Amino acid sequence: MDRVAVVTGATSGIGKVTARELARQGFRVVLVARSADKAAQTASEIAAAVPGAGMETLLCDMSSQKQIRAAAEELRRRHDRLHVLVNNAGGIWTERAVTEDGLERTFAVDHLGYFLFTNLLLPELRRGAPSRVVNVASEASKLGRIDFDDLQGEKRYNGGLAYAQAKLANILFSSELSRRIAGSGVTSNALHPGAVASGFGLNNTGLLRFGMKLARPFLIDEEKGARTSIYLATSPEVEGVTGEYFAKNRPKKPPRNGRDPGVARRLWDVSARLVGLS
Ligand SMILES: NC(=O)c1ccc[n+]([C@@H]2O[C@H](COP(=O)([O-])OP(=O)(O)OC[C@H]3O[C@@H](n4cnc5c(N)ncnc54)[C@H](OP(=O)(O)O)[C@@H]3O)[C@@H](O)[C@H]2O)c1
Repeated sequence: MDRVAVVTGATSGIGKVTARELARQGFRVVLVARSADKAAQTASEIAAAVPGAGMETLLCDMSSQKQIRAAAEELRRRHDRLHVLVNNAGGIWTERAVTEDGLERTFAVDHLGYFLFTNLLLPELRRGAPSRVVNVASEASKLGRIDFDDLQGEKRYNGGLAYAQAKLANILFSSELSRRIAGSGVTSNALHPGAVASGFGLNNTGLLRFGMKLARPFLIDEEKGARTSIYLATSPEVEGVTGEYFAKNRPKKPPRNGRDPGVARRLWDVSARLVGLS
């Protein structure tokens, strides 16, 4: 029977390489993407690189809770059990924007997207156990703190800090999830991929885009950037390992603000309210 891996943000950068390598390892890979054209293009690139790859596409804009719910429902129709979920879709935005759900975009896509999609797919992941949730976070989380008084940057918005907060939220979500599903056979780990020359940051204009372009020669390539995601999704070395944060295929101490179970629990409760989960 197929082992099924779901990869969000599979149309670019780290996610695209991760999807390709999971296909190479024999997974049936679900490419989750917000653009039908990019999804089709990615699927044909992977098919060319991995002859016989088992692949399918699933459309979902992760800024929309309605679309996340519809995508989860569609996945449930297609697959009774899932074995890997790589939460990877994300970005940084210098300009504040509000999603159709009335939420600040960075918090919505980079954190609530992971939170809602995973929670909706937990029954399928449990049925697929041993199975793995892999959450692509970032060392940018070191600069973050969960500002419960202004989670959505309504009082003050800074794109870098909003990103750092969301990536810190990935780490807190990942560890809280591991506690909540302990013993289920579903593991949950977070990771830092490294500083990667991907499409990251290039959606912006101005200083950030300029800085990302300038930095490119000093960044690692997407192949290297995807290594820890692939490792956590597939390596027998991390079978059963859960609640950890990794970089370069090794466990790493999460940043100080990412280690407090009380903050993780509170963030979980607030997030559940914001996405309408009980
Ligand atoms: N690059 C780095 O240095 C770095 C460092 C630490 C962590 N990370 C993390 O690594 C992950 C992957 O980033 P990357 O570097 O590979 O960047 P990337 O090349 O820009 O890829 C980002 C992916 O996320 C998708 N995405 C963005 N917003 C979306 C939305 N609203 N709905 C659905 N998909 C959406 C993009 O889709 P489109 O193709 O349609 O735009 C793309 O497939 C992110 O979570 C990022 O925070 C990156």
